[in-house]
Amino acid sequence: MAPKFVFIAITMVVLLSSSAFAQKTASPPSLAPTPAPAPAPDYVNLTELLSVAGPFHTFLDYLLSTKVIDTLQNQANNTEEGVTIFVPKDKAFSSLKSPSLKNLTNDQLKQLLLFHALPHYYSLAEFTNLSQSSPVNSMAGGQYSLNFTDNSGTVHISTGWTRTKVSSSVHSTDPVAIYQVDNVLLPEAIFGTDIPPTPAPAPAPDIAPVADGPTSEDAGAKSPTSNLSGKSASFRISSWGIWSQLALAVSGGFALMFL
Ligand SMILES: *[C@@H]1O[C@H](CO)[C@@H](O)[C@H](O)[C@H]1NC(C)=O
Ligand SMILES: *[C@@H]1O[C@H](CO)[C@@H](O)[C@H](O)[C@H]1NC(C)=O
Ligand SMILES: *[C@@H]1O[C@H](CO)[C@@H](O)[C@H](O)[C@H]1NC(C)=O
Ligand SMILES: *[C@@H]1O[C@H](CO)[C@@H](O)[C@H](O)[C@H]1NC(C)=O
Ligand SMILES: *[C@@H]1O[C@H](CO)[C@@H](O)[C@H](O)[C@H]1NC(C)=O
Ligand SMILES: *[C@@H]1O[C@H](CO)[C@@H](O)[C@H](O)[C@H]1NC(C)=O
Repeated sequence: MAPKFVFIAITMVVLLSSSAFAQKTASPPSLAPTPAPAPAPDYVNLTELLSVAGPFHTFLDYLLSTKVIDTLQNQANNTEEGVTIFVPKDKAFSSLKSPSLKNLTNDQLKQLLLFHALPHYYSLAEFTNLSQSSPVNSMAGGQYSLNFTDNSGTVHISTGWTRTKVSSSVHSTDPVAIYQVDNVLLPEAIFGTDIPPTPAPAPAPDIAPVADGPTSEDAGAKSPTSNLSGKSASFRISSWGIWSQLALAVSGGFALMFL
């Protein structure tokens, strides 16, 4: 009586397991290597970012009035390269006496603004390399190049007219890097090479660099493969579970026959 009951129970288990297995195999797409979904492009609204940080209102107003903001936003939105922008604070503009930006034509102003951007995303760590490849072309084009030097972790920028440094990182996540600089970057291509000798009145030492210090915040690269492999591994485990159940049930059945 009892052995019969056990046999029925084991048969039930075998049937259930195999139907469960059938269900699993009936949905093979979960095993098929699904292509990793293209990572959604992170949209960084430069206008918004610059209007809340800083204060960078002067620079932002120039970007908006010349529409250079669209060029930069387009570079951020639609290129693999990304963009790096050096942004002077309002005080850097107000303390800029000579040369003045007042006499610039609209085109010169545009060039001056594009001179503050590089057509590539650079994390702070990458500036070490940039110092070796200086001069580096800005988005204003060939004649408008910037020299970088890495002074034990502090990035210095020189244009001939301007010697300044990156005083803090405002945003640094591929594809957009925005760094605060202490001075407006003045290109020789606009102001000429007739640079006054090392300015006696030190340019704006009153800009207290209370900067929180450049912080490298490299975006952790998301790896879409980690989820994929995780999924297939767990599937492998669960299907192994079914097989072992079956094997147990079958061997249980055999054991019964020998009882
Ligand atoms: C970007 O931000 C600005 C300021 O907040 C806003 O006026 C503008 O509509 C935003 N642009 C987009 C495309 O969301
Ligand atoms: C950048 O992308 C945002 C969001 O997709 C869009 O609203 C905006 O118009 C784009 N701007 C440019 C200049 O491509
Ligand atoms: C503007 O240009 C005029 C003529 O070229 C010059 O006399 C004047 O000094 C300039 N102003 C400034 C602020 O540079
Ligand atoms: C610097 O350049 C070298 C070779 O040009 C490259 O292998 C290295 O990855 C670069 N480092 C950074 C931080 O970009
Ligand atoms: C930039 O670097 C190049 C090459 O090292 C040098 O010839 C040039 O004078 C530098 N320009 C400035 C403005 O420092
Ligand atoms: C894995 O996928 C889940 C949703 O399916 C998601 O929430 C999670 O962020 C993903 N993790 C990784 C490392 O991609």
